[in-house]
Amino acid sequence: MKVLVTGGAGFIGSNFIRFLVRNHPDCDVINLDKLTYAGNLENLSDLETVAQYRFVKGDIADKKLVGRVFQEAPDAVVNFAAESHVDRSILKADQFVKTNVLGIQVLLECARTAGTQRFIQVSTDEVYGSAASGETFSEESSMHPNSPYAASKAAADLLARAYYHTYGFPVIITRCTNNYGPYQFPEKLLPLMITNALADQPLPVYGDGYNVRDWIHVEDHCAALDRVLHQGRLGEIYNIGSHCEKTNLEMVKELLGILNKPQSLVRFVKDRPGHDRRYALNVSKIQRELGWRHQISLGDGLRQTVAWYSCHREWWERVKRGEYRKYYKKVYGRIS
Ligand code: NAD
Ligand code: TYD
Repeated sequence: MKVLVTGGAGFIGSNFIRFLVRNHPDCDVINLDKLTYAGNLENLSDLETVAQYRFVKGDIADKKLVGRVFQEAPDAVVNFAAESHVDRSILKADQFVKTNVLGIQVLLECARTAGTQRFIQVSTDEVYGSAASGETFSEESSMHPNSPYAASKAAADLLARAYYHTYGFPVIITRCTNNYGPYQFPEKLLPLMITNALADQPLPVYGDGYNVRDWIHVEDHCAALDRVLHQGRLGEIYNIGSHCEKTNLEMVKELLGILNKPQSLVRFVKDRPGHDRRYALNVSKIQRELGWRHQISLGDGLRQTVAWYSCHREWWERVKRGEYRKYYKKVYGRIS
């Protein structure tokens, strides 16, 4: 099987490529990534000499380039490429529309023309909007996206759905909860808090810290995507999550405990505009149909993740200084 992974130099994409290479020696992987601020080839430096894996630098919204990539006739596409940070979407939404909406349309069209057999759109629980206390969203729930990021992902889901219904194009959509684990860009809650704490810097908690997220280890998300890629039913949506709801304050306090750092590092700061209070998914469909269940408990996952950032201080210090881009220049020549 030949799989085109888009956005594979980011957090989840790089973990997924490593998962594919490790678990499917017969699978060839092409990684198409624009290398935005969030794309870091160092995340995959261990695969540079692996024959199964190849990197192509490019934008999913660039029709010509994407058309050329599809001449290699991938059997499947897994689309991770996106602008992914809510705070950035609040400051400047235009790139979110370009990549997350226009980009997926180009990908869908090129994949359809090339006769691709499966197209997995990696989406998010944020498309459902904020859940009231006790409420959970199923795949049938309607979408109420509240941030420009969530709205752009919802638009992408609708385009993917329309390609299935209009053209019979083999699309599957997945909607996952908040991921954590190695190689996450330190603008997101967990890596920001871990790396700040390691550097004895304050930990900025938005609002009252009682917003709730459902946390899943990235390795569990990758295993779910692998199931969907190989066994998922075409035209379906699958929620992915681990039923592990925590307030932001609980998460931050737990991290400080693991790191043996003082709680006094917590700073309450101005809330994010339009901040969703709670995300919560019903994940019984993927459990029932594909037999997937998360394997990593939050306690184990957090300890592993803290250990990873503690041992990879050079990685995140380079990322925070913006120097990780030099790596691409060194390995692949000038960035065009
Ligand atoms: P990320 O920001 O770490 O990585 C995104 C990657 O996409 C980067 O490598 C970036 O260079 C690349 N990219 C951006 N624009 C591109 C373009 N126009 N063309 C080609 N490549 C481009 O994001 P992530 O956290 O790894 O998330 C990956 C996907 O999973 C996203 O679609 C996101 O919406 C979805 N998702 C993320 C989470 C989460 O908790 N992080 C949860 C559910 C779903
Ligand atoms: P984030 O990692 O940005 O993911 P998302 O907004 O997509 O869920 O944020 C997770 C939660 O943490 C969210 O409720 C916002 C909060 N948060 C903070 O309190 N402080 C921070 O510095 C960041 C980045 C997030």
